[in-house]
Amino acid sequence: MTKAKQLESSTDKIIIQITDTHLLQDPKEEFVQVNPEHGFHAVMDDIRKNFPHIDAIIHTGDLAQNAKTETYQRYLDYMQQFAVPFFQVPGNHDDIEKLPFATALPEPTVVDLGAWQIILLNSAVTGKIDGWFDHEHLERLNTLLENNQDRHVILACHHHPFSMHSKWIDQHILKNTTDLKQLLSKYNHVKLVVFGHVHQESINAWHNTEFLSTPSTFVQFKPRSDDFAFDDIAPGYRCLHLKSDGQYSTKVYRLKDYNPKINKEISGY
Ligand SMILES: [Fe+2]
Repeated sequence: MTKAKQLESSTDKIIIQITDTHLLQDPKEEFVQVNPEHGFHAVMDDIRKNFPHIDAIIHTGDLAQNAKTETYQRYLDYMQQFAVPFFQVPGNHDDIEKLPFATALPEPTVVDLGAWQIILLNSAVTGKIDGWFDHEHLERLNTLLENNQDRHVILACHHHPFSMHSKWIDQHILKNTTDLKQLLSKYNHVKLVVFGHVHQESINAWHNTEFLSTPSTFVQFKPRSDDFAFDDIAPGYRCLHLKSDGQYSTKVYRLKDYNPKINKEISGY
């Protein structure tokens, strides 16, 4: 058995973000000529190889392409083998009735990491592609932030709060980013907001907070494209290295030698 790699300090934490697995009901099935199960497993194998010690894995939504109980059960069974705490927030493709997601509205779930906290938020609205934070959910978030100002905080949700400069993707943005900004402007301890949905890496900064999106484990979307378009770049995941003094570093890793041949005839997603 591999000996777990010693962290620089026992209080440092390594968090992995995966997102947009879009798993299908049949694990052998393909969508746009790509099998989402293959990308997901290849990403998890890469994570296991690169990071022998992980403190938590956060999935930022769209676990399933079509929300089915058996798909979610297969995901849960697969994730158990890593013996690492794992959490997920719902995406627009998910159904919170079929998977007991960590975040039961209106209370956000807090992943306690000592000096750091990850707060899981639900930005998904049943029947909609775009996102929205429920008023009561934001009020509870406000209380959490107010009561934990001695912690460094990461917020995790599915939808992108800021424009990706891509018309078709921006139609499906978090629609009440103004409410989130109003809340964040009151505090200085929210270091990061991590999300998925846009199937590409991005970084934005606002106030004292960095906003990061992460590649899908499935197919990628072409950055800054006004019309729907796939990108040929490989699937990936994000690693966050958190230090107890509030400093952090983060990097996106992509699979090598994994280039699925996407059927690009599809005009929407
Ligand atoms: Fe999504």
